Amino acid sequence: MADVVAPDTASSEAVAEHEIASPIKLAHVVFRTSRLREMLEWYRVALNAKPAFESDTIAFLAYDDEHHRVAFIQVPSLAEQPAGQAGLHHVAFTYDSLDTLLKNHDRLRAHGIEPIWPVNHGPTTSLYYADPDGNQLEFQIDNYDTVEEAGEFFFTEAFRTNPIGVDIDPNELKQRFQAGEEEANLKRRPPSGPRGVETIPIR
Ligand SMILES: [Fe+2]
Repeated sequence: MADVVAPDTASSEAVAEHEIASPIKLAHVVFRTSRLREMLEWYRVALNAKPAFESDTIAFLAYDDEHHRVAFIQVPSLAEQPAGQAGLHHVAFTYDSLDTLLKNHDRLRAHGIEPIWPVNHGPTTSLYYADPDGNQLEFQIDNYDTVEEAGEFFFTEAFRTNPIGVDIDPNELKQRFQAGEEEANLKRRPPSGPRGVETIPIR
């Protein structure tokens, strides 16, 4: 007669799972594309990244302690992305300071890469970009020093009436920054009226 395994480990496994079930990090994003060279070059510039591996069909980019953060798979003759289809909306990358975000904005502009939606969400100041395939990226800084402060913003009247954000002009922000205006002031979301998701100017 076969041994019967008693289900007495279930509860202890459940406790362990509860304690360690989340990943330790978000590792990478992979795009399928029919423009591998163009995408690789665009992301190399946009993220100030280095190729970690490159072939005619696959390429990896790295820019920090991870072996690759963004990768591309070349698939010939893919259709362009249609609007109005469920899927990924954007991928967000955080920079260390307003100064860096603004300098990166200027650097990308020199490469002909302009943001498609500059906005102060409240918790973040964000510059959205679109890659050559139309995938959307958010380059952001945290507007608050702590996660707790940022989280509290979600429960303010400002967020209840406008959970989207207030559009900004990065050039004006840069002028005010260079004029020495206090950073906390520059990162504070300006007052606004009600705003809904239908006003998000990116698809
Ligand atoms: Fe975002």
